Amino acid sequence: MKLLTPKIDRDSLFEKFAQIRRDLAATLIERDEEIDLILTALIAHEHVLLVGPPGCGKSLLLDSILQCVGGSKFSVLLTKFTTPEEVVGPVSLSALKDDRFVRVTTGKLPQVDFSFIDEVFKGSSAILNCLLKILNERVFDAGDGIAKAMPLKLCVGASNEWPSPETGKELSALFDRFALRKTVTPIRTHVGRQRLLWERSLTPKLSTSITPMEVEAARRAAESLPWSPEAREALESIIKELAREGIHPGDRRQRKTVGVVRAYAWLEGAEDVQPEHLEIAAHCLWDDPIEQPQKVAQVIAKVANPTGMRINQLLFEVEQLIGPCDIHDLAEAAKAAAKLAEIERQLASLKGNGRLDRARAYVREQLKKLKMASIEAI
Ligand SMILES: Nc1ncnc2c1ncn2[C@@H]1O[C@H](COP(=O)(O)OP(=O)(O)OP(=O)(O)O)[C@@H](O)[C@H]1O
Ligand SMILES: [Mg+2]
Repeated sequence: MKLLTPKIDRDSLFEKFAQIRRDLAATLIERDEEIDLILTALIAHEHVLLVGPPGCGKSLLLDSILQCVGGSKFSVLLTKFTTPEEVVGPVSLSALKDDRFVRVTTGKLPQVDFSFIDEVFKGSSAILNCLLKILNERVFDAGDGIAKAMPLKLCVGASNEWPSPETGKELSALFDRFALRKTVTPIRTHVGRQRLLWERSLTPKLSTSITPMEVEAARRAAESLPWSPEAREALESIIKELAREGIHPGDRRQRKTVGVVRAYAWLEGAEDVQPEHLEIAAHCLWDDPIEQPQKVAQVIAKVANPTGMRINQLLFEVEQLIGPCDIHDLAEAAKAAAKLAEIERQLASLKGNGRLDRARAYVREQLKKLKMASIEAI
């Protein structure tokens, strides 16, 4: 068993992250990718931006994740009237009496481990400028000329809409501070909607928690994961292929992607980075939020994870089958069941990892439900 620090061993640390991942995914509906995104960012020491319509569970997800990490937290909802005082702390009145301008940062963004900034693009210029520096450099000068290192490990920003290219330099610079960015979509599947409507509680029950020290240990462990030659080659091919598609993620973004993929590989329990771990880079390697994310995901899936792409396609077919299927129409239900069984056979023929097993289990469960419902209907 490899020791990271005298107190934290790699296996139990990994198991803690895995447990949190399971606990969150068990309750939050169709938020597996977002959970992975935030945990990866936490391990990679990067920030995350989630954009989605009101009520799609962004706050619930973030609150739940912040609940499982110990350490100090700061949340704020930005409006154009929010003042810098509310984010970085008020000016000290006693210092002002001595003609000194110093902020009291206790409990505010410069002094916390984790922060959640809701409506992150709605702040005034003064706030946005302040965030630019804080998020990038993680240092803050309270006014006394001393730039102090901040403990900030993760900032998650949320918004209902993407900043448009016309909204100016400040917003695009802030947008670029988030290494991982994702559109959160409302629940898509029939099963998911049933759970949303009828499940008694949608608040995750957490069976473990992680301390800031453990986050730091995970970061160091992830940093030491090597990249396999195949994964290196795949990343280089992806960047070339994206350039052919007219997608040119900036140099800083490309560099950060290397660390993000490493962190994801660690979260997946890998000993080294393999091509399939590049899937997470679909949330890093683009600039235009409207046109590019889907293209980037396709290029990455094609180059690095064709099996993952096939699983997604088959799961999509499953939803198309069970969503509109009328189980009281026995002929229709039988047809859907036959197609589901065929999809299960196709999945069985693939070689893969945990995701494949989960997909197969899901299809088998749907098949069972369909058969039971048909029997009951008779
Ligand atoms: N995917 C989901 N899984 C579980 N619960 C969900 C999901 N989506 C929505 N909900 C339910 O809807 C509620 C509202 O979600 P939440 O407040 O987190 O949305 P939001 O995306 O933060 O909205 P806003 O953009 O208005 O802040 C949740 O507390 C939960 O009860
Ligand atoms: Mg919210």
